[in-house]
Amino acid sequence: MSHRDIQLDKDGRLRHFLTIEGLKQPILKQILDASDFFAEVGERPIKKVPSLKGKLVTNLFFENSTRTRTTFELAAKRLSADVLNFNVAVSATSKGETLLDTLRNLEAMHSDIFVVRHNDSGAAHFIANNAAPHVKVINAGDGRHAHPTQAMLDMYTIRHFKGADFTGLRVAIVGDVLHSRVARSQIQALNTLGVSEVRVIGPKTLIPAAARSLGVHVYHNIDEGIREVDVVIMLRLQKERMSSALLPSEQEYFQLFGLTEKRLRLTDPKAIVMHPGPINRGVEMASAVADGPRSVILKQVTFGIAVRMAVMSIIMGAAPNA
Ligand code: CP
Repeated sequence: MSHRDIQLDKDGRLRHFLTIEGLKQPILKQILDASDFFAEVGERPIKKVPSLKGKLVTNLFFENSTRTRTTFELAAKRLSADVLNFNVAVSATSKGETLLDTLRNLEAMHSDIFVVRHNDSGAAHFIANNAAPHVKVINAGDGRHAHPTQAMLDMYTIRHFKGADFTGLRVAIVGDVLHSRVARSQIQALNTLGVSEVRVIGPKTLIPAAARSLGVHVYHNIDEGIREVDVVIMLRLQKERMSSALLPSEQEYFQLFGLTEKRLRLTDPKAIVMHPGPINRGVEMASAVADGPRSVILKQVTFGIAVRMAVMSIIMGAAPNA
């Protein structure tokens, strides 16, 4: 069964959120529009709505996370759900309990949503295939495969700063595209939303051989690639996923591909700078850029709460105007 089959119900509504691949523009726009509502909730003195009151959201993180885990927890609490944070480090997984047995036990506690991060590509899909019929699954990042809520919070950030019409935008994604589940999901979302020019920039060793088949323009020189773009998305070097020496040194990488204030002047004067985090300062970008006036990196984190509220409420059939 394809991801598309499993994540949509028979009426084409979002049931699980596992990947951007195969989703049509109206679903992505539904998430962005619902995020507007929840972003406004986040500005209120009481940042809470009753949409998921009585429901249980279980965070199942088998891989480290700062932003995704905490913003899912906060998003669930702002929707009035109960939240369980499954801590793998102190769980019975270390005593040999299988993933399926762990799942059954968490289902027995009446979990309604599993938010899953795992270092194996396909783990969230596996859980969705094996979960009880009423349980919804959200992929919070699986191996190199997909990170769909990160892609949607990035699309929301772009829409916030650049307007609702994505079609005329030029967007550059710079760095370790090869190992990046974020880049893969971003490219799918940007293409689906009709962005006219998506560029990927990086050394040959860190750009997938089949990149052009994803509908992107490939550059191996950052000074050429970022010229006049409206959005620059920097990626972290994922050293934990590199099986061989794909890089000369971090210093040389920064010289060749790091985003500096000087390089930023090659972009459109109103270009924004994004990064999914965590940032390696002085490796993929200079601190002066990360903390500078064009950086919207911390806005991405704030918007992530609203976007995750939107996704959870949509899959539970509790979205505004659902
Ligand atoms: N962007 C992102 O997924 O960050 P975390 O690993 O901290 O969740």
